[in-house]
Amino acid sequence: MKEALDKINNEFQKDYESISTQQDLEALKIKYLGRKSELNGLFSNMSKLSSQDRGLFGKEINLLKQKITDTINSKILSAEKNELFFDVTLPGTVNTFATEHILITVLKQICSTFEQLGFSVVEGTEMEDEWHNFSALNIPLEHPSRDGFDTFYLDSGATITEKTGQYLLRSHTSPSQIRMMENLTPPIAVVSPGRVYRPDEVDATHSFMFHQVEGFVVDKNISFANLKGVLLKFARTFFGPEVKLRFRPSFFPFTEPSAEVDVSCIICGGGKNKQIKKCPVCKDSGWLEILGCGMIHPNVLKDCKIDFKKYQGFAFGMGVERVAMLRYGIDDIRLFFENDKRFLEQFYVE
Ligand code: PHE
Repeated sequence: MKEALDKINNEFQKDYESISTQQDLEALKIKYLGRKSELNGLFSNMSKLSSQDRGLFGKEINLLKQKITDTINSKILSAEKNELFFDVTLPGTVNTFATEHILITVLKQICSTFEQLGFSVVEGTEMEDEWHNFSALNIPLEHPSRDGFDTFYLDSGATITEKTGQYLLRSHTSPSQIRMMENLTPPIAVVSPGRVYRPDEVDATHSFMFHQVEGFVVDKNISFANLKGVLLKFARTFFGPEVKLRFRPSFFPFTEPSAEVDVSCIICGGGKNKQIKKCPVCKDSGWLEILGCGMIHPNVLKDCKIDFKKYQGFAFGMGVERVAMLRYGIDDIRLFFENDKRFLEQFYVE
């Protein structure tokens, strides 16, 4: 019996010396203190001994058991204290969970800026008809944007009435204006984000699919001043409190008067930042175009059965990729859609 105990003790000392990992320690614990350990086995052999020897050896076994337990426990404690099993030379674990795509983040930020001003967010539909995408927006039949080179027409098999015309993938988010005005009564203040499609050749600034946010308000006593105020508030929240806006007269069939809006260059501050000699973003013009807008054309209100003598409205539409590119200094729209993690990871937030 005594020999058996000595043998276990020696073996334990040897094993104990050679452990280097947490797993080794666990294995050692099971080997020497587990139910099937040699030490436990000794207890069952004790029945063969005289009652005097039994008491003696029982004590000896328990002493060794306690010694092994203490040794292992102190190792656990010191391992925790000294981080003995933590290999600092191992590479850190990188968080590989996917998070929101940068375009969705920007899209949500745009919408929430308008939500703070009292707008509701309502999505339109990506499959549209000619009525909502063109006719109701005062876009005449001969307008070039209706051409097959500028719009994806769908062969959906759905019944096409004279009014709806052909089905298509919407080429802008403006048909959302029509859908909302058909279904809501003023006062209306809505922003409508989503994908739009145009058969453009893909290059650094063009994609056959991109995102827009449409915004519009219909109420009594709405003027161009309201439009300017709302857009200035948006630009200062989104691009920074210093930015200025410039309204350039323009033309859209569904707004009158119409304007294109530029924001003072957020990279060179419109020439204010003297350290930037030749601004690569605004090409030294000091301005960046961000959206189209105007007062909703009376014909549009009329088609949506809104009394244009009583109500006025303004509308605007902006490209999400474009504002994201300006804000983050991204020079190629294709980067958004290539799903290269090295690009996307730069925008991950905790
Ligand atoms: N739909 C226009 C475009 O895609 C933008 C726009 C929206 C202009 C609303 C005026 C008013 O270019």
